[in-house]
Amino acid sequence: MKPAILISRVLPDEAIALARQGAAVDLHAGEAPLPKPELIARLTDKDGLVCLITDRIDAEVLAAAPRLKVVANVAVGYDNIEVAAASARKIVVTNTPEVLTETTADFAWALLMAVARRVVEADRFVRAGRFTRWELMLFLGGDLHGKTLGIMGFGRIGRAVARRARGFGMRILYHDALRADAATERELGATFVDKGTLLRESDFVTLHVPLIPETRHLIDAADLRMMKRTAYLVNAARGPVVNEAALAQALREGWIAGAGLDVYEEEPRVHPGLLGLSNVVLAPHIASASIETRVKMAALAVENCLAVLEGRPPLTPVNPEVLRT
Ligand code: GLV
Repeated sequence: MKPAILISRVLPDEAIALARQGAAVDLHAGEAPLPKPELIARLTDKDGLVCLITDRIDAEVLAAAPRLKVVANVAVGYDNIEVAAASARKIVVTNTPEVLTETTADFAWALLMAVARRVVEADRFVRAGRFTRWELMLFLGGDLHGKTLGIMGFGRIGRAVARRARGFGMRILYHDALRADAATERELGATFVDKGTLLRESDFVTLHVPLIPETRHLIDAADLRMMKRTAYLVNAARGPVVNEAALAQALREGWIAGAGLDVYEEEPRVHPGLLGLSNVVLAPHIASASIETRVKMAALAVENCLAVLEGRPPLTPVNPEVLRT
């Protein structure tokens, strides 16, 4: 008999078809995430779960799923899953790294350029019928080329962002808990600095850290005050990495020039103090949302799920120690 899996939200057709080849699929086709009681009810007889970051897979959910062997997240970040609780139950957790690296780096740049060159404000202006003549002083923004880019979090995505910065002739600073090796620093032309130096010297600060206890409010009021008044902040990592109330104040009071945000502290809620500001570009958590990449993410999650259920090693486990015991 095929194993039974729950797919918690609609995925691209290719991924659903792949899942149906190896499993009996219970697909939640609704628009909103499954409420917790329904998620729990539908997991009681499931061997695997393919879920999204909007599903909170905590100890209570895991405890209510006695047959569950694998939780396959369709995302590289997995702060929505209590991995320690999963490991304690020998449940494998997987994520989708690599396939979204370049797409996410592209989008960090999209935010950076949009806020620095005021693309969204300018678009609204044109649509409002206010473009009546060319003006020398209209929508003046900040240059990118030749400026200093500060990358906080120098993993796969941070490095992909750095590679793109070279094309803009930028000076690249980075900070990370782990320093990259000398060959990587040389290849990317990136200089390791402490956090304070990065904040003080960068014209653009872009965040690419995972959300873990150490990175919660990594950017707080004091950090924003350290940045240049002409600098921009980009967050395509996780919302709670930035103190959103402090950021709203910083943008309102001109401590920094602007921000580009894809993620929020309490998604999908956006801090009301941000909504009325013109110096912030707001996106609805879409950094990896190219057609190609979302298809690859979904397919990888399904492959991971089926691999565990068929006794094969998953491609991208988060808690590989579970596989060894
Ligand atoms: C999306 O936010 C992801 O972690 O892949």
